[in-house]
Amino acid sequence: MEMLLFSIWILITKSYLMQSKCKGCVWVECTKCRTIGLDGTAIGPWNSSDAEALIRYTANKGYIISGWELGNELSGNGIGTSVTAKQYASDTISLQNLMQKIYVGFQEKPIVLGPGGFYDANWFNEYVTESSNALQAMTQHIYNLGPGVDAHLVEKILDPSYLDGGSQPFRDIQNILKKSGNSTVAWVGEAGGAYNSGRNLVTNAFVFGFWYLDQPGMASMYDKKTYCRQTLIGGNYGLLNTTTFVPNPDYYRQGSRCC
Ligand SMILES: *[C@@H]1O[C@H](CO)[C@@H](O)[C@H](O)[C@H]1NC(C)=O
Ligand SMILES: *[C@@H]1O[C@H](CO)[C@@H](O)[C@H](O)[C@H]1NC(C)=O
Ligand SMILES: *[C@@H]1O[C@H](CO)[C@@H](O)[C@H](O)[C@H]1NC(C)=O
Repeated sequence: MEMLLFSIWILITKSYLMQSKCKGCVWVECTKCRTIGLDGTAIGPWNSSDAEALIRYTANKGYIISGWELGNELSGNGIGTSVTAKQYASDTISLQNLMQKIYVGFQEKPIVLGPGGFYDANWFNEYVTESSNALQAMTQHIYNLGPGVDAHLVEKILDPSYLDGGSQPFRDIQNILKKSGNSTVAWVGEAGGAYNSGRNLVTNAFVFGFWYLDQPGMASMYDKKTYCRQTLIGGNYGLLNTTTFVPNPDYYRQGSRCC
């Protein structure tokens, strides 16, 4: 385990999870845990040994984590690299087995989430079927407004028919889960609206509420159980001002839950 990352982890768990009433979800995945082929696709299984050390440490310290997610953005064509649905399902089963082993005797066991990526019909379908009940929540990422620099960003945010277009993946995932007949539920694992960090004075301003208030409402219509907003602090879509930590308008649109 790299020492720097490990120290950051101790800091996060101590200062955030222990002192706030928020429950956190954490993703475990790294390109170093996989062998990457020449075409950018990962070869073979996920090496879970670093994740196991991290999860074991966290569990033994008594830090409450509500879910461990196998992520991040490797589904479909992936961002940078990708993993086949079949392999990802098998890795998800490994993570669930790890969970059963580490949290044996614990009253509350964290759930397993995945894939934390963009919706791709075939990939998501195969993934949920193959991972069976090892996967407890299927997580989808949403940046449906395009890049933050888009010249028509504000028009899109204010256009109801554009916003409604975001319901298609919600509907598809609901159908996939229904068809699989498993107990897997659907989450939005990360949503910042506009990628490449959003846009200053748009995705952190009042106008963004037209996108943000529409999203969880629409998501709940299609049975999403949780909606995670990117970010609390950071990028141009933070709920808090990144320098002063004063809440931006979307902060007041949050429900009482934070993950
Ligand atoms: C898995 O990762 C660990 C830690 O980085 C390493 O020591 C081990 O050799 C790896 N195992 C395989 C099969 O690559
Ligand atoms: C989960 O879904 C898959 C695919 O439909 C099926 O093969 C498996 O039996 C299901 N598992 C349970 C426990 O329902
Ligand atoms: C954040 O606070 C700084 C300092 O008051 C201010 O200049 C900036 O415009 C704020 N950002 C937003 C998005 O309101």
